[in-house]
Amino acid sequence: MCGIVGIIGKSAREAILNGLTKLEYRGYDSAGIYLNDLQGKQYLTKTVGRIQNLKDKMTSDEQGQVGIGHTRWATHGKPTIANAHPQFDETGRFYLVHNGVIENYQDIKDKYLQDTTFESNTDTEVVVQLISKLAREQKLTAFAALKASLKLIKGSYALLLIDNTQPDHIYVAKNKSPLMLGLGDGFNVIASDALSVLDQTKTFVDLHDGEVADITKDNYQLETIAGNKVTRKPYQLNIDPDAASKGTYEFYMLKEIAEQPSVLRHLIQYYLTEDGTPKLAPEIVDALAQADKFYIFAAGTSYHAGLVGKMLLEKYAGIPTEVDFASEAGYHFPMMSKHPFLIFLSQSGETADSRVVLQEAIKRNLPSLTLTNVPGSTLAREATYALSLEAGPEIAVASTKAYIAQVATQAVLAKAVGEKLLKQEARNFNLANDLSLAAEGIEQVLTQQKKIEQLTDQIIIPSRNAFYIGRGIDYPVALEAALKLKEVSYIQTEGFAAAELKHGTISLVEKGTPVVALINDPVTADLMRGNIQEVIARGAQVIIIAKQQLAKATDDLVLPELNYYLSPLITVVVAQLIAYYASRDKGLDVDKPRNLAKSVTVE
Ligand code: F6R
Repeated sequence: MCGIVGIIGKSAREAILNGLTKLEYRGYDSAGIYLNDLQGKQYLTKTVGRIQNLKDKMTSDEQGQVGIGHTRWATHGKPTIANAHPQFDETGRFYLVHNGVIENYQDIKDKYLQDTTFESNTDTEVVVQLISKLAREQKLTAFAALKASLKLIKGSYALLLIDNTQPDHIYVAKNKSPLMLGLGDGFNVIASDALSVLDQTKTFVDLHDGEVADITKDNYQLETIAGNKVTRKPYQLNIDPDAASKGTYEFYMLKEIAEQPSVLRHLIQYYLTEDGTPKLAPEIVDALAQADKFYIFAAGTSYHAGLVGKMLLEKYAGIPTEVDFASEAGYHFPMMSKHPFLIFLSQSGETADSRVVLQEAIKRNLPSLTLTNVPGSTLAREATYALSLEAGPEIAVASTKAYIAQVATQAVLAKAVGEKLLKQEARNFNLANDLSLAAEGIEQVLTQQKKIEQLTDQIIIPSRNAFYIGRGIDYPVALEAALKLKEVSYIQTEGFAAAELKHGTISLVEKGTPVVALINDPVTADLMRGNIQEVIARGAQVIIIAKQQLAKATDDLVLPELNYYLSPLITVVVAQLIAYYASRDKGLDVDKPRNLAKSVTVE
């Protein structure tokens, strides 16, 4: 989604452009930068499309010692230059970049800004015009006008403001959108994602919701909107900036798919002792073990990982588990059991839909745990407990290794809780061994990339639509496989519980329709073969992916044996590769599919 980078106290142009480039993966459709050289010169450049367009448009004299930059993912108003940020007020004094959505922008416009001339259709312009108006009419400093404006504004925001009558300050504010301050020697940076400024500093201070800051090159003053001073200790973020580089891979997505065996091996070390016992904080296991039901909330790929998690938790912990779309549960909160425990799955830890549910859970005093790949993210901070997915930075918009880590980490939870509750199934669950077999299994799949690419080119790419079908544990994988393929290749794909197809949707199957059939479930393997025949009889082009013990000589891909409940760890990798090749071989931008954003911070 939108990205923000600001810097004060050092040559700002390169730092901001580099930072914005690192945020490209989040998805955006226009970009802009404001620079001020503190000697009376200022520059504003905005473009539609890629950051490269911005770089091409800027002249060499556009330099500054302070600046703010933004990548915009359009919500209010089309992607145009006028709607791109920085937005500015009608007097040309204030420049502002903003992530989030101002919910009451129309009310503010009607009530306070009737005489103001607007140049854009954005909700953001309302904020900068309001700041300007309050500063003028009430003779407020920029910082005071910002705070006064925020008292009137409802919505989510991470925003950076520069007042060109006093350009040696950046004023910032945060509510429900990520923003962090990075501390340098003689300079400071502000960003919506630490990854974008890791080449500048590794020392960060988080801003919390409802806080504002006045930042100069050597200092920062943090306070609440009401004006109460806040002190918070800086921390070191030890992420290797190389982990976020593409290396020799053509696309991040392929790099991240290939990293999955090492993600699993790392998780074995991180979450299991040498004898295979889960290494989780006892209070987390105790809290989970007291529950009579688990409720998993998530969106998209994380939701699909939750569906696998349900099977793991029910099998090994013996606790009934419900999985809900966060976007639905936020406004139609599910009926809870007597002792519920809520689990939030989120790669980014910032998904607005999940946050609405978490806020409700906090209100109701319900215990919660967030599993996220971004420790320190909003959902991690606000839940009762948080665990890290340890997958390393995931840059491609399509989630791959975070899904693998979500499944594996839920398996750790299932084993830990099951052992605590003295379940024999959990004691017999040789998770360390199974995860290590899964890592080897993924490596085996990776050796079959050529074959997967051929099948994709021959059967999937020529079609406008496709199906994945599976039963049992393969059903949630079929859902994830379909999401992966459609999001990066734009081929309309649906995942189905195999037998459901014949209850209606089979009418869409015609000559050449690709149907990918997944067979890991011994109980329904024969029935799956029957469902495959049904679609073949209607002209479908079938790709059969079966685990060794259930495979036939004519099957297209044979997968190594693995614990049934962990089999998604291997099967999904075939689907990820099909999606990757479908996108790449169609000549698409694999890492940045159209209309999508990496972290979805609006509802
Ligand atoms: C698809 C994908 C999305 C996310 C979803 C939730 O590849 O990445 O479906 O899974 O937007 O995001 P997180 O996990 O960050 O809450």
